[in-house]
Amino acid sequence: MIIIKVGATDSTNLHLKRMLAETALEDFTVLVTESQLKGRGQAGAQWISDPGKNLTFSVLKCFEALEVNRGFLISQAVSLALFNAFSKLGIPDLSIKWPNDIMSGQKKICGILIENTIKGNAITQAVIGIGININQDSFRGLPHAASFSQITGTEYDLDSVLDVVLNFLRDGLDRISGADGKEMRETYDSCLFLKDRETVFKVDGNEVKGVIRGVSRDGKLILEIDGNQRSFGTKEIAFNL
Ligand code: BTN
Repeated sequence: MIIIKVGATDSTNLHLKRMLAETALEDFTVLVTESQLKGRGQAGAQWISDPGKNLTFSVLKCFEALEVNRGFLISQAVSLALFNAFSKLGIPDLSIKWPNDIMSGQKKICGILIENTIKGNAITQAVIGIGININQDSFRGLPHAASFSQITGTEYDLDSVLDVVLNFLRDGLDRISGADGKEMRETYDSCLFLKDRETVFKVDGNEVKGVIRGVSRDGKLILEIDGNQRSFGTKEIAFNL
């Protein structure tokens, strides 16, 4: 595994993609920075992280040819790898908030931004950006965010946490190609935040009550609403928390 460390950069996803545009990189090349100046989150959001306090890194994963409609396997494998790594590190009350936030209790401790390269009908590579809140002691304006240290009262060595996380990630990502997806989906479903509990969502600007039952093969959230099952893509529904 090749790990490249840079003191500061705009975004590790952007940085790794720039490197890829210039040169071929080995599968599972990791780019990690202490200070991310323009971190990017899902749906065009920013990812803000105090320099030197957290982990912000991106991993290149190459695929022979992963069909586009199986792309959610990447998200599932990464979420589960992080869930298992955090569990090994003793972080309590873990769950995966669909599609891929990692939670401890009601707090988000980790975000994932996956950017795929698609050729024809196949994903050939993914840049998997991961931000883990580790030793940061406050998140102003982000009431739903927390760090490992806030949750456990312990200060963490960033390199040791990275080491554990990368080992779980490598194992999880290696399993994608041979997977039929069923087992991974079942495990992922069993880790879902608020599964089987009545929850309020926003659909087309309206509040809708539903119960999370799992995800479909293509990664849509399956909700039971008034006794009927309906599935929603990420652009169609939001948690109303
Ligand atoms: C989210 O939950 O909105 C996703 C956040 C992803 C943040 C990570 S930090 C490392 C990598 N580089 C980025 O610019 N974003 C991801």
